[in-house]
Amino acid sequence: MFSKISVIGQGYVGLPLALAACEAGYSVIGIDNNQNKIDKLKGGRSGIEDVNDEKLSKYVRNGEFKLTSEFIEVSSSSIVLICVPTPLDDKHSPDLRALESAASDLSKHLTEGSLVILESTVEPGTTRDFLIPILERGSGLSKENFHVAFSPERIDPLNKNWNIKNTPKIVAGLTEKSTAMAINFYSKFIDTVIPVDSLEVAETAKLLENTFRLVNISFINEISNFCHRLGIDINDVINAAATKPYGFMPFYPSVGVGGHCIPVDPVYLANKADQIGIETRFIDLAVQINKEMPRYFVGRAEEKLGSLKEKKVLVVGVSYKPNVADVRETPVEELINGLVKKGADVSWHDDLVKEWNGKKSVALSNNFDLAILATPHHYIDLSKLGSIPILDTRSSI
Ligand SMILES: NC(=O)c1ccc[n+]([C@@H]2O[C@H](COP(=O)([O-])OP(=O)(O)OC[C@H]3O[C@@H](n4cnc5c(N)ncnc54)[C@H](O)[C@@H]3O)[C@@H](O)[C@H]2O)c1
Repeated sequence: MFSKISVIGQGYVGLPLALAACEAGYSVIGIDNNQNKIDKLKGGRSGIEDVNDEKLSKYVRNGEFKLTSEFIEVSSSSIVLICVPTPLDDKHSPDLRALESAASDLSKHLTEGSLVILESTVEPGTTRDFLIPILERGSGLSKENFHVAFSPERIDPLNKNWNIKNTPKIVAGLTEKSTAMAINFYSKFIDTVIPVDSLEVAETAKLLENTFRLVNISFINEISNFCHRLGIDINDVINAAATKPYGFMPFYPSVGVGGHCIPVDPVYLANKADQIGIETRFIDLAVQINKEMPRYFVGRAEEKLGSLKEKKVLVVGVSYKPNVADVRETPVEELINGLVKKGADVSWHDDLVKEWNGKKSVALSNNFDLAILATPHHYIDLSKLGSIPILDTRSSI
């Protein structure tokens, strides 16, 4: 048995991490300020597609995974991981309130010699200039008396090939000792741990990874629109280009990017750039193209039906990506709003999401003028739509 650790934030990142640490032999305290979530997890219901309820129940039952909303448990932990959300606020700017509150609550129980690792996505400088001062203020300790590292999470929910164990993990410590402690911890359950030179390199690497995806997805959507006009199948084009063994990486068209990371993280990068007087034209353009995609597909619906007024339209799949129930930042919301603005009578089907924005998923049927395939979950059986026209947002034809 290794020492006791705490994981603050029991969501898509924190819960799988907590269970991986349990499996490696750590005794884990899962802390979350959402009491409902704590109660659900204690009852063995993970609520996350990737996290097996049986595994969760096993560790809860045998006492190796303890769940609480009380931060006092931090005082007996040698390592404290922070996995709270870092979203955007109403003004579309980075919102660090959850991080500030979690750091402040944990600082009151921080003990000398312990290691705090931040996993939430942040802009460069946040660990050094935002997190550490909060920890120092609340604990009364100076940063020489505890250890700090940043290690960005790379989890990709439902990815069957890459998981917490085989996805290489970047780690940077405030000091060499912090780095060594973080490597020692992650190496217990992750195959490849890669130290990098500074907190800021690790923070920026995460933003680069997700900005790269946003730019490339927006780019392929623009090419998809181009192919549509020419009657060329974008997926045939991508598959053909992907036969090149070097210098090309396939990205696929969609109604736009969603989720907690890809639409959000580039804004953190752009925000920092703005503070230091650097333009981020690629990001700005990619964000703009991405935002235009739902409207573009409203136009494609009009191409098929003429006026959408009083037309019955079924939107199929509303989560931000296939096979998950996560609707955070889903571009399908804008698609539905755009169709409603044009006077369409819009219903949606998604048996994973079930209930959303006060409405319920309707059954797949041929009782519509048009179906728009927005998020193609594997379970969806399109034959249930009969012969009604289908607009496929994952294709250009
Ligand atoms: N979801 C992903 O696929 C993914 C991938 C890589 C990185 N990230 C990053 O990881 C971080 C966490 O994301 P997530 O998807 O796990 O979020 P999430 O919303 O699924 O989970 C976060 C949890 O933190 C809890 N929380 C919020 N404020 C708290 C506080 N002050 N004290 C204690 N608990 C608090 C929430 O109740 C929630 O349960 C974010 O920075 C995100 O950008 C997410």
